[in-house]
Formats: sequence, C-alpha cells, structure tokens
Amino acid sequence: MSPMPRILAPTNDAISLAAERLRAGDVIAFPTETVYGLGAATFNATALERIFALKGRPFDNPLIAHVLDETMARERLSLAWDNRCTALAARFWPGPLTIIVPKRAEVPKRATAGLDTIAIRSPDHPVARELLRAFGAPISAPSANRSGHVSPTSAQHVASDFADVDDLIILDGGPCRIGIESTVLDMTADLAVILRPGSITLSDIADVIGEVRVQESRTQDASPGTSPRHYAPRTPARLLSAHDIRNEIMAVRGRPCAVLAVSRGLANAVRNRPEVTLFELPADPAGYGEHLYSALRRADEASLSIILIERPAKDVDAEPRWTAILDRLQRATAGP
Ligand code: TXA
Ligand code: MG
Repeated sequence: MSPMPRILAPTNDAISLAAERLRAGDVIAFPTETVYGLGAATFNATALERIFALKGRPFDNPLIAHVLDETMARERLSLAWDNRCTALAARFWPGPLTIIVPKRAEVPKRATAGLDTIAIRSPDHPVARELLRAFGAPISAPSANRSGHVSPTSAQHVASDFADVDDLIILDGGPCRIGIESTVLDMTADLAVILRPGSITLSDIADVIGEVRVQESRTQDASPGTSPRHYAPRTPARLLSAHDIRNEIMAVRGRPCAVLAVSRGLANAVRNRPEVTLFELPADPAGYGEHLYSALRRADEASLSIILIERPAKDVDAEPRWTAILDRLQRATAGP
C-alpha cells in the first residue's frame, strides 16, 4: 500500500487517538474555524521539530500555541498577561485572535523560534476544543500546508499537501467557517500592534483596548510569516480590476486561464468563453474569505496559464472587513 494520510471523522475514538499521538510526540492535523493546523505538543521540542521538517518551514518562523482558554494560556505559557489581554480574551476567545505576550522560561525555544515572546490563541471549532480538552495542554500549530503554499480549509487540502506522509492523522471538521488565518496582535509593548490582519479588525480591537497600530513594514524580521510572498498558488496570479481582466483575456488570446470573479458583471462577461475557468466568489467579505483558499487551490490544480483575480474592494478604509482578504490576495499575487 502506498503511504497515505488518514482522514478521520471526529468521533470520540478519533479524538482520543489524536491526543495519544500528541502525547507520543507525533504530529497530527486538526480543524480550526480559520484554517487547518498541523499540531504538536508545545512542551515537546522534538515533536515541534517534526512540524518544521514536514512543512519545510524556516526555523526562524515562530508557531502559534493553541489553548482551551485564558487559564491555560496564563498557567502554562505567558509570563505577563495584563488587563488588556484579559479584556481581549473575554471578547474574542474562543476565536480568530492570536495574542503575543512574553513567554515563560519553560516553554521550549522551538515553540517560538528562539523569541522570548509567544503567540497564543484559543480556537473556536468544536473538534479543536475537544482535542485540547482530551490532550489537556497547549498544542503548537502552524497552518497545515507545505511552507509557502495556500493554507488548507478542508481535510482534503491537508491530505493533498501531505500525500506522502504515511499515517498522518487528519481530524475532519468539515470546511473552515472563516477560511482566513487569525488576526495576530502583538501585546508585548504599551501600544498594541497588528502583525497580521484577520477577520477581527483594527476597530474591533480598538473597541476593547483603545489605541492599536498596524505593522506597516512587511520585513522578515517583523513577523516571518508575513513576508511579502506567502499563501501563494503555483500558477502565476494577478490581482486586477474587472476591466483589466477583460483586457487581459483578450491579450492572452485563447490560452487557458482561471478567473476569480466577485462581480456579476465580470462573471457574466467571461462565463461562456471556452478558455476561461470561472470561479464566482461571494461579494461580502465573510463569504469571500470562507471560499477564497479553496477557489485558489482548485484554480491552481487546473494547470492553467494564469489566475486572474478580480480586486474585490476599492476602498478598504470604507470597508475594513476586506483588509485581511486584500492582504492575502496581495501576497498570493506578489512576485517571487
Ligand atoms: O488562524 C491561524 O492563526 C492558523 C490556525 C491553525 O490557528 N495558524 C496560522 O499559523 O496561521 P502560521 O504559523 O501559519 O502563522 C503564524 C503567524 C506567523 O506570521 C508568525 O510569524 C506569527 O504568527 N508569530 C508567531 N509567533 C510570533 C511571535 N512570537 N512574534 C511575532 N510573530 C509571531
Ligand atoms: Mg501559514
């Protein structure tokens, strides 16, 4: 039999098995409300090394530790946890907000890529929560994709990225409800800083703690996973207006291409063109985020010459819920 991952329905037995695997120092994949994670025990440095090896992840890119609740975060991981963090956890946990705080000395260096801060979040997915309950300790998990590839929003996406990993257990929690990675918020200084935008926006956070800043420099140092090219399909991809996409289709003259459309007008204009494989995405940011990565993956698998993505929003200042999506689209279409 050829080596293959195992997709398991999330029964009590499957969750117990996954927790056992974590205790044994293995890596497993599990669903969250954002994207699937490739998890290992935070307090097992050798197991963490397997995550980096499997993903091909650079060793300087720190991991997010997943916890059941604020108590687990404070008792096991954080060295300092102020009132702002308590207020954020009360409002957004469980949910797609990752909070960076100073770490305890006993947290392995591998969990934070040598940093003395740690990124923590409490996922809002019943399977992730049952797994955390069964395991009883923090689980470090990056998105369950090969490094640099599009994040997975289904168990099948994980299986296709790790098709050669024999016996990798993937808990199947269905398609992810949010579909875009969590908002990453650095709480280690007086002024909170958003390192990665997500579905929880700057103004959502400002409502709870007051002033928040956005990390502008996209350097490798700021937050390694936020390097310009990330979340990328293998097929060249461009982010354009509907008008420019129509011109581009004329210009490529019959070469097969994918169009990710958000407006009816563009979808109708290209629907019957034989060279176009059309993906229609919802025009609201929540629906768009939910379906974006699966559309990108399907477009990528169709072996086309180019993926043309219609820019979904003109003015993010007026529509802040598009910020995270535009961020991911810019990365998916950035040059190498
Ligand atoms: O929604 C999510 O956050 C998903 C699910 C699985 O929870 N996880 C995820 O993990 O997206 P990953 O590894 O793909 O992204 C983690 C991000 C990276 O940009 C990393 O650089 C940043 O968090 N990060 C982690 N720890 C950090 C730290 N101590 N300081 C600064 N950035 C950190
Ligand atoms: Mg990732």
